[in-house]
Amino acid sequence: SSEHPEVILANVPQFKELMMQYECAIMEVNTKLHVLNNEFSHMYQRNPIENIETRIKTPASILEKLSRRNLPICVESLENGLTDIAGIRVICPFPDDIYNVADLLTSQDDVTVIARKDYIKNPKPNGYRSLHLIIEIPIFLASRKKNMKVEVQFRTIAMDFWASLDHKLRYKQDLKNSEEIAAELKECADIIAGVDLKMQNIRKKIQ
Ligand code: GTP
Ligand code: MG
Repeated sequence: SSEHPEVILANVPQFKELMMQYECAIMEVNTKLHVLNNEFSHMYQRNPIENIETRIKTPASILEKLSRRNLPICVESLENGLTDIAGIRVICPFPDDIYNVADLLTSQDDVTVIARKDYIKNPKPNGYRSLHLIIEIPIFLASRKKNMKVEVQFRTIAMDFWASLDHKLRYKQDLKNSEEIAAELKECADIIAGVDLKMQNIRKKIQ
């Protein structure tokens, strides 16, 4: 066929059905986060969640990751091999909001934590900070209940600012002085982490 593989995949009925299910899982987690945000703001007159972004991995990106991991192209390897098809990014004002919201979400009795990577307590060598959770939640379909995996990334506004600029800069890989640039980016990440804690202390003083 002259068509691109990702276009072919996007039109396979089983694939479309699975993506619909991941959309439903995102809606479930999104609602849970909004409920927590509303209740918190009712009790404490401020929001612990600044913004929520959601995305479904594109067919092209799914194919790329399957081939990078030497996995066959089938529904089973999508569901069992990839844990970030459904993604939610939760942006919080302060670092302590991240742990409060994450703990409240994961203690709900229909939420199972599959994996947890705390890149805030243990930043990546390049300075990247965020709390990553892979959770499993049930969605209720017409004839059955199905558990779906969702990747939830928690970041402060400041961590998100750094990560989105880092993401933009990383496309320029052919830089000669890339070690120096990496060191500068890392320095920025550390400064930002310090500012995050300072701002959190200011909030505590005001409260
Ligand atoms: P992927 O194969 O990319 O999903 O990585 P992984 O399975 O090792 O998971 P990890 O938790 O390390 O990273 C998953 C996601 O976190 C990425 O898709 C990015 O959204 C984000 N991320 C991780 N590291 C970085 C980083 O150094 N910079 C930026 N900007 N984002 C990052
Ligand atoms: Mg990923």
